[in-house]
Amino acid sequence: MTAAHTANRSSPGDSPTPAWLKTPAFSDLAGKRILITGGAGFIGSHLGHALQSLGAKVIVLDDLSGGFEKNLAPGTEFHKASILDDAALRRAIAGCTCAFHEAALVSVPQSVAEPEKCAQINMVGTQRILTAASEAGVKRVLFAASAAAYGNNPSLPSREDHVPDCWSPYAASKVAGEFLLQSQARCTGLSTVSLRYFNIFGPRQDPSSAYAAVISAFTKVLISGRKPTIMGDGEQTRDFTFIDNVVYANLLAATSHRPFTGEVINIGTGVRTRLLDVLRHMGEALGVDSTPGFAPPRAGDVRHSVADISRARELLGYEPVVGFGEGIRRTLEWARTDPAHMGSGGSAVGSSITAVRGSAA
Ligand SMILES: NC(=O)c1ccc[n+]([C@@H]2O[C@H](COP(=O)([O-])OP(=O)(O)OC[C@H]3O[C@@H](n4cnc5c(N)ncnc54)[C@H](O)[C@@H]3O)[C@@H](O)[C@H]2O)c1
Repeated sequence: MTAAHTANRSSPGDSPTPAWLKTPAFSDLAGKRILITGGAGFIGSHLGHALQSLGAKVIVLDDLSGGFEKNLAPGTEFHKASILDDAALRRAIAGCTCAFHEAALVSVPQSVAEPEKCAQINMVGTQRILTAASEAGVKRVLFAASAAAYGNNPSLPSREDHVPDCWSPYAASKVAGEFLLQSQARCTGLSTVSLRYFNIFGPRQDPSSAYAAVISAFTKVLISGRKPTIMGDGEQTRDFTFIDNVVYANLLAATSHRPFTGEVINIGTGVRTRLLDVLRHMGEALGVDSTPGFAPPRAGDVRHSVADISRARELLGYEPVVGFGEGIRRTLEWARTDPAHMGSGGSAVGSSITAVRGSAA
């Protein structure tokens, strides 16, 4: 059994209230108890800070397998436990009106190495959240789905009605999660939405893993004065999406009056950027030489990935609120002022950069 406690440290990476956070509908969240699974991680912690500033009571359930307690917004009620710990889950979700389900086994290579663990956390864990949410009277569950669902489907930009093309247990588990949300909505009336994130980046993204997302890994290498390595020729493109866009989309989905029943919605920017341009941009912003070395491409990495965001526009009224250049500027600014976090994982990344975690997101 794990006891909840309240986080009391502020975390770097916060900025003054942005205009998009003042969206009138978001005031509905004030005073509400809201659960974020995986809330000590990169995306979950940004959601937590935003919800906190909107006056919500934020509850985080996270086992800290990949997240950090220092990421939590001050005043967060923190339950350090796995989503697979039923008793802890039920304590955390009691009285909540909404749940953002961000916790997951997030590494594609780890999912290949440990497919059953991936299925347990990402599929069984997701069903447990849904069951607990229905029983606790939660109104809506939002699920962190993934662009990995599109795999190597050559049709670009990727649209939600494209047939999934799964190349890893991670991708398959995320698609399964979407179907679990849909069936839960149909069987129990719980309102559910799956947001398919593309490549998200920003402050607090952990560069320490051997499979770190590419921008956080590049950031760490460039700031420490080392030479970056691209796996492949660098012509690969991705829909790099700054964290604020994902938080904005989640808040729009949580406060929408549409009766969602498991809709799947892409969240990206609709713009694709080459890895070579990412590095050039970062080098210019930092005033350092970012000329990369090259290594053989990683098996399974997709060549190009970009979202069609028409459905997000139509169903959520979503538009990206921070572009790539501004996002990079803010990420680098954070990295320079929080070197402790950038260095948290020792030397796992080394001078060799994993091209893009999870092929595409
Ligand atoms: N970052 C991206 O580009 C991206 C793209 C697509 C989808 N996603 C999805 O978004 C979600 C958040 O990703 P992130 O980038 O913030 O990753 P992250 O690793 O920073 O956050 C995941 C959090 O979940 C926690 N967690 C893992 N297993 C858990 C368990 N069994 N019980 C409780 N907590 C557990 C970790 O400790 C961590 O804090 C994930 O579901 C991920 O699959 C992320």
